[in-house]
Amino acid sequence: MKNLIIAIDGPSGAGKGTLARTLAARLKYRHVDTGAMYRSVAWKAANDGLPLDDEAAITALAERAVLEQADGVITIDGQDVTRAIRTPEADKAAAAVARLPRVREVLVARQRALGANGAVVMEGRDIGTVVFPNADMKIYLDASAAERARRRASDTAHTGGQGTLATVQSELVARDKTDSTRAVAPLTLATDAVYIDTTEMPIEVVVHHVLMLLSDKLLD
Ligand code: DC
Repeated sequence: MKNLIIAIDGPSGAGKGTLARTLAARLKYRHVDTGAMYRSVAWKAANDGLPLDDEAAITALAERAVLEQADGVITIDGQDVTRAIRTPEADKAAAAVARLPRVREVLVARQRALGANGAVVMEGRDIGTVVFPNADMKIYLDASAAERARRRASDTAHTGGQGTLATVQSELVARDKTDSTRAVAPLTLATDAVYIDTTEMPIEVVVHHVLMLLSDKLLD
């Protein structure tokens, strides 16, 4: 079996995490959640009292931080932030940090290093467009805003008083807008990505579909 690079992009709540995790487990590939990298750096910056627009300081932090993710546990400099990075405040902080071009440069370089040898499923917003434009397979997952909000609201990894479904949806739509309109690496559909609308598709069906798409490439 070949050591492919599989890129999974799309807005929050589209099912990227579940798809990426399941594919990685099936293929015995490494799973890299790049959103967790932005979230961890934002969390540490806030924890260190840095203003979230201090690009120089946050870039230095992103360069030196020890970022690890294994078996669903996310750490930065040895500190377990698995739950702390999934609060509504962490959502906002991560989106703010992800707008900073130099922070992106540093994290993109780290993501390329993590995937350099292949056998990786990497999820994010710019994996197929910026991080690995030559990825072996690019998937763009999407779903309606209402469905994505419903999934986010019932996601137990996200904690801390998320409020009503309507609030979750409006915050999610606002964040999508930040992610899609920012100057650097906005969320866009790569021309060669496979677009999958998961609004009415159970995740097992999505996984099955993607495994079918991969079958030829895995044997090449
Ligand atoms: O996927 P997520 O919600 O955990 O991502 C957190 C934030 O980081 C979100 O605002 C989008 C941003 N992000 C990004 O800009 N580029 C990536 N490759 C991954 C996430």
